[in-house]
Amino acid sequence: MLGEMKAVFSGVQPSGNLTIGNYLGAIKNFGAFSEEYKSFYCVVDLHAITVTQVPAELRRRTYETLALYIACGLDPAKNTLFVQSHVPAHAELGWILDCFTMFGELSRMTQFKDKSAKHAENINAGLFTYPALMAADILLYQTDVVPVGADQKQHLELARDIAQRFNSRFGDVFTVPEPYIAGTGMKIMSLQEPTAKMSKSDENPNAVVRILDPKDDIIRKFRRAVTDSDTVVRFAEGKDGINNLMTIYSCFTGKRLDEIEREFDGRGYGDFKLAVGEACADALAPVQSEFARLMADKAYLESVMRAGAEDAARCAARTLNKVKKKLGFVI
Ligand code: TRP
Repeated sequence: MLGEMKAVFSGVQPSGNLTIGNYLGAIKNFGAFSEEYKSFYCVVDLHAITVTQVPAELRRRTYETLALYIACGLDPAKNTLFVQSHVPAHAELGWILDCFTMFGELSRMTQFKDKSAKHAENINAGLFTYPALMAADILLYQTDVVPVGADQKQHLELARDIAQRFNSRFGDVFTVPEPYIAGTGMKIMSLQEPTAKMSKSDENPNAVVRILDPKDDIIRKFRRAVTDSDTVVRFAEGKDGINNLMTIYSCFTGKRLDEIEREFDGRGYGDFKLAVGEACADALAPVQSEFARLMADKAYLESVMRAGAEDAARCAARTLNKVKKKLGFVI
């Protein structure tokens, strides 16, 4: 709890290539939190440098990520949108929590194992302590709920353990956060391998539709989507490809599955795939034009990130001061 209000916090890697899975399963629904929760969305540039970055690209993607979140419906007047490195309290509490996180715990993190296998030339200490910084992000804001993908669940459990460890030693300092696993009800699958989740790092470009893909690409990707040898548009076991396309169509149009079955009764898969592609492209068109408009207005984006950082810093300072006092720092 942050004062009177519950708080929601999520961190977003600065990468502009979010998919329709991220959009439908997560971002599109985040706006709803702001009615009841104090909501923080943070572009995590400190986390990003745990793998090698090209500076100009990191800078561009930081703006892009912020612009994309606003374009997807997160209103800066109702949500605190900011950049992690603009609020030094993250790095400060990150260091402190490093000292309350065990080597053994960090060694068990599957993302660390995966990333160190993938970046064998750069297994740096930041990559190892990444989850303690993530815990700091969350705990600074007395966060109640953290919307994350299933891949972040282990990190969130560690954040809870760290909070509990600190609290049991020093009294109630941190709210213990709950995960909100985004997209469990609305899982969007790969277009090429519909039994696997659509992943933003998939190497097959036809498997993934990105929020910023041009209309032609979207139509083409849906046209090539893997289906089955049946010919009926019907939601049924074993029809993973069609089920996925029906889910996507339903999300973008608001139509129910039985309505979709009726709409395409007696029509082939070709017609259906085209309709899904068009519904997707039409729904994304306003997001894309808003994104383009925002990217052309860097001054506006900078004013959003400044105001966000100011608000975040004020909230973070309260927690950080309490932590320092408990630790015995002279403040
Ligand atoms: N580790 C998260 C990811 O890769 C990003 C992240 C950083 C985060 N800090 C966070 C997510 C705090 C939720 C809360 O997706």
